[in-house]
Amino acid sequence: MSYQDPVESEISTLTSFVLEKGEKDKSTGEISQLLICLCTAVKGISYTLRKAGMIPLYHPISEGTREIKELDVYSNNLIINTLKSSFATCVLVSDENRHAIIIEPEKRGKFVVCFDPLDGAANIHCLAPIGSIFGIYRRTSTGEPSQDDALQPGRNTVVAGYALYGSATMMVVAMDCGVNCFLLDSDIGEFILVHKNVQIRNKGNIYSINEGYTRDFEPAVLEYLQEKKCPQDNTAPYNARYIGSMVADVHRTLVYGGIFMYPANEMCPQGKLRLLYECNP
Ligand code: AHM
Repeated sequence: MSYQDPVESEISTLTSFVLEKGEKDKSTGEISQLLICLCTAVKGISYTLRKAGMIPLYHPISEGTREIKELDVYSNNLIINTLKSSFATCVLVSDENRHAIIIEPEKRGKFVVCFDPLDGAANIHCLAPIGSIFGIYRRTSTGEPSQDDALQPGRNTVVAGYALYGSATMMVVAMDCGVNCFLLDSDIGEFILVHKNVQIRNKGNIYSINEGYTRDFEPAVLEYLQEKKCPQDNTAPYNARYIGSMVADVHRTLVYGGIFMYPANEMCPQGKLRLLYECNP
């Protein structure tokens, strides 16, 4: 009698991927611990969101609102607690917390993590995709860790990525070895490597921007948009796509190509980069 294993036996999971990379890099394993713990939080958020999606279908929106709003807080607490339990972090900066979180000395590691636990949460009611965003830095100072440890230039990023809670849950992780995409197989609770070393296309045909803010755009932005819609060389115009959920808009751009923009407007004169804004009020 033959037995067909329901799970492909030669698969690479996010866990095995980071462990293998750590082995190759001869690293201490701290970053692997951190990413594995982050994955646990993402699985928890994914599971909870799937259930939350049912709330507006079964209850009037007003009843569901409180519970849905609490998803922000739940996701934030889950990420904070799992990162603490990794013993790999010393400072956490969350879009949900006004101040940086300094990890207690006995749980400290060398990494700083900046994240938005649930970006685009306003889209939960209409079941549009939302996501979690993260960036990981190595602490460069000595002494007591502080919020300043998070104020590092982008080029210092050790790992960055996002989790997209869409028709499936995917983690996209950028490291020095490239960008890799892992799809959550909820039956086995693992993120499976599905796209290796992903690179954005040189040219796409989609522009993505909230054109409702047109009156606030700089002339250069207006000129650029006009060129996308009515190319002077008579090539085909770009298509417009805008979800209003950054992770989903960025992921579509990564997969299909094109451009995603959020230029400054009257309400967000520095663009909508709240993490930086909060640190430099
Ligand atoms: P949020 O933190 O309130 O969820 O806002 C972040 C979201 C992004 O996901 C998205 O790109 C942007 O806000 C949409 O903003 P707008 O509605 O101004 O187009």
